[in-house]
This record gives sequence, structure tokens and C-alpha cells, in this order.
Amino acid sequence: MIMPGNPVWLAAARDRKQDSLDKIVIKGGMPLSGEVQISGAKNSALPLLFATLLAEGQSTICNVPDLRDINTAVKLLCELGADASRVEGCVRVDAHRIESIEASYDLVKTMRASVLVLGPLLARFGHARVSLPGGCAIGARPIDQHLKGFEALGAEITLDHGYVEARADKLVGAKINFDMPTVGGTENLLMAAALAEGETVLENAAREPEIVQLSEALNSMGARIEGAGTAVIHIQGVERLQPLSCDVISDRIEAGTFMVAAAVTGGNVLIRGAVRAHQEALISKLVEAGVSIEEEDDGLRVIGPQTLRAVDIRTSVFPGFPTDMQAQFMALMTRAEGSSRISETVFENRFMHVCELQRMGAEILIDGNSAVIRGVEQMTGAPVMATDLRASASLILAGLAAENTTEVSRIYHLDRGYEKIEKKLAALGANIWREQES
Ligand code: EPZ
Repeated sequence: MIMPGNPVWLAAARDRKQDSLDKIVIKGGMPLSGEVQISGAKNSALPLLFATLLAEGQSTICNVPDLRDINTAVKLLCELGADASRVEGCVRVDAHRIESIEASYDLVKTMRASVLVLGPLLARFGHARVSLPGGCAIGARPIDQHLKGFEALGAEITLDHGYVEARADKLVGAKINFDMPTVGGTENLLMAAALAEGETVLENAAREPEIVQLSEALNSMGARIEGAGTAVIHIQGVERLQPLSCDVISDRIEAGTFMVAAAVTGGNVLIRGAVRAHQEALISKLVEAGVSIEEEDDGLRVIGPQTLRAVDIRTSVFPGFPTDMQAQFMALMTRAEGSSRISETVFENRFMHVCELQRMGAEILIDGNSAVIRGVEQMTGAPVMATDLRASASLILAGLAAENTTEVSRIYHLDRGYEKIEKKLAALGANIWREQES
């Protein structure tokens, strides 16, 4: 039980307080310049935090971004009985004494990545009970592939009252072929198979950099995993794992968001921590649009052109164009010369930012899972509303380039995945600040 006053309780209370009060205000038109340091990757830190459940003893994960979702993950670890807390840029987790195997609906509904406790709890304790995450703003996002994989390893899966329960006296390695490359499914099964008896083969696995980091982290704990980063991953189960110590890789989606910020304002920004190999698809589309991108020091220098060219994109799994950059790229294309077509193939409802961009003067037509954007000379600031994490980033980017003032409300969505974004943008010369909703 987390008592009031506990640091985890205080962080969650701070998040709740921020929920209803904050908006971000932008007076657009300033070209960005200078340099920005990218934070650790939310989508790598989350599976790493849950991987600590696989080992008795104290794990330490550093370069962890200060985000709502991280606070939620730390709170969940504490609710399971682990001793978890943030110490400056690191999170320490002592998972020696786990008292519960249940992730409640209250927590899972705020962060669907909580389902990533299924694999570790099932592998270490033979039992896990997690609320089904339900849908979210961008789509149904089922976890059938996760459950199919656990059953292949010998787990018995039951669903009742909105919860999924997984039990297994022993997990035995198996061959698992995913219907589609699923990031969370690959992560959950990597963690479960690490302690299964014998060999597990994941086919049609996700190939994201976050999968590679999780595999390297598990191997540093004593696991035997080969092939992460490719579509076929081999895992030889072991008896037990040691605690984890690692630094989270930089956030390629935050880096991509700042690359678009430099491009859309016609700026010149050094993005420290950006890794070219994690961004090839985005870089190639930005260059096609006329943006200059060069490797420099420990990052990428991005120079936005006076005139942007319209380009088409089609999101897909890594190494294709990332769905998590689709909304941000659309904000860029609202200012390009010509028409561009953006097709979203990963999620079924990831155009929630379109109507808000239209309020700012964007000319966008939705046609099924595609949007056609006809570039306009100038967008105009307006009060707009965030609906999900990357849509809120898209509205911030549009506001940076628009004339007059843009107010983005409900930015608790933004705080889930971007660490102090308004402070980082202000340090690059943007006229942007956070204030309380009146
Ligand atoms: C991860 O979500 C990311 N979240 C998402 O980032 C990202 O958009 C997504 O991968 C795709 O890259 C984290 O890493 C915490 P999936 P995840 O399983 O694992 C379908 C952000 O903005 N599917 O790869 O939930 C699913 O519906 C977030 O940071 C099934 O049908 O994504 C989707 O259409 C948003 N059955 C597609 O696969 C399953 O069992 C990809 O989902 C699993 C997935």
C-alpha cells in the first residue's frame, strides 16, 4: 500500500493536480536555434522497469525521463510489493519481495503499457492477473498476440470481469509466430521466455531499437537471447536472472519531434542524443522535403529550408516510418508547397489531430486511413485541444510555425511522453510557456 507522503504518492498527486490545470501557450513565428539534449526513451524505460520483476535484488536504471507514465510504472511496481523510487535521473527497484501479482484497472487504464507486467510475473511466479487495457484514443489495441504467446509457452489464460489471468506451473519454450510485429507482444514474450525451459523462437517479431535494448538488458541479467532487431529472435531459457543495471537509450520519437520543430520553423538546431540509425526513415522523408540533416558531435544538426516540399508518407513497423511520428510530420506538411498523402497503417484511429490542425487553417481531407494535406502559406494560431500524446506534440509544432497565439489545452497527454518540452523549446528561442487553464 502506498501511503500519503511517500515519494511515489507525491509524484502521482502532482500528476493528478497537473491533469486539469495546465495548458501551453505559443506565440509562433520564431525560427529555433541552438542545441537541445534528448531525454531517455519512455518506450524503452517502461519495459526495462518491468523487467526488474524478473530478478530478486536491487536493479538500477538510469537516464530515465521524468514523465507521468514513468511515475505510473513506479507506482505499479510499488503496488506489486517492490521497493521502487526515483533517485535523480535513475529509478531503483528492489523486487526481492513481491506481494501481489495483480495490476489493477485503475492503473492499467491510465497506462496500457502496464500489461508488460504479465510476462515477468508469469515467468517468475507462475501467476499474473492484469486488467485488460481496453481501447484508447488511437485504436482498439488488443493484446491477443501477447496471450497467444503465453498459451504457446504453456500458460492457462482466463478472462473474467475485465481481467486477464495467466497461470503456469512451468513455462516451456515454443515457436511463436506473431500475426503482426507487435512491440509490446515481443517485449512481453521476451521477458516470459527468458525463464522458460528450453528454446523459444519468436517469428515476425518487432524490430524497434527498444526491443534491442530490452534484449541486451535481459542478457546482462543472465538471459540468453539472440536475434533481437531482426524478425526472428531465439531465447534459451535459464533458471534465474540477476538484477539489472543500465542506462536508457535516447528517445528517438522526442528526437524526431525536435527535428520537425527545427524544420517547421526554418531553424537551425543541434539535437544532442539523436541517433541516425534509429531515424533513417524519418530522415529520408525530411531530406526529401528539403530539410538538411547532418551528423555532428553526439547528435544531428537539422536546418529547415525556407520552402518545404510536400512528400507522401506511409507509416509502418520499424524500420519503416514510425506511426509515433505521423502526427508531427503532418504538422510539417501543412506548410509544404503542394499536396502530400499520409497513410496510417498501424493504428485505426490516429488522425485525432486533424480537426485541431484544421482550426489553425490547415487544409486536410481524410480518406479512410489516409489524409491528404494541401500546404498553406501560413497557419494561424487558435485555441486547440490535445487528444493523445503525439497529437498534442503535433499541435505544439503547428503553433511554433503559426502566426499569432496558439493555446493547447489538456496537455496532460503531452506530459506522458515529453519531459519539459516547453522549457526545451523556449531554450531554443520559441516564445512558449505553460500556464494554468482559467
Ligand atoms: C508500442 O505500443 C508503443 N508504446 C506505441 O507508442 C507505438 O505507437 C507502438 O508500439 C507501435 O510502434 C510503448 O512502447 C509503450 P503494438 P504497442 O503492439 O506495443 C496491433 C507512443 O506514442 N496489435 O506494436 O501497444 C495493435 O492494435 C505510443 O509512445 C494487435 O492486434 O503497439 C496495433 O494496431 C503510442 N494485437 C499494432 O498491432 C496485439 O496483441 C501495433 O501494436 C498487439 C498489437
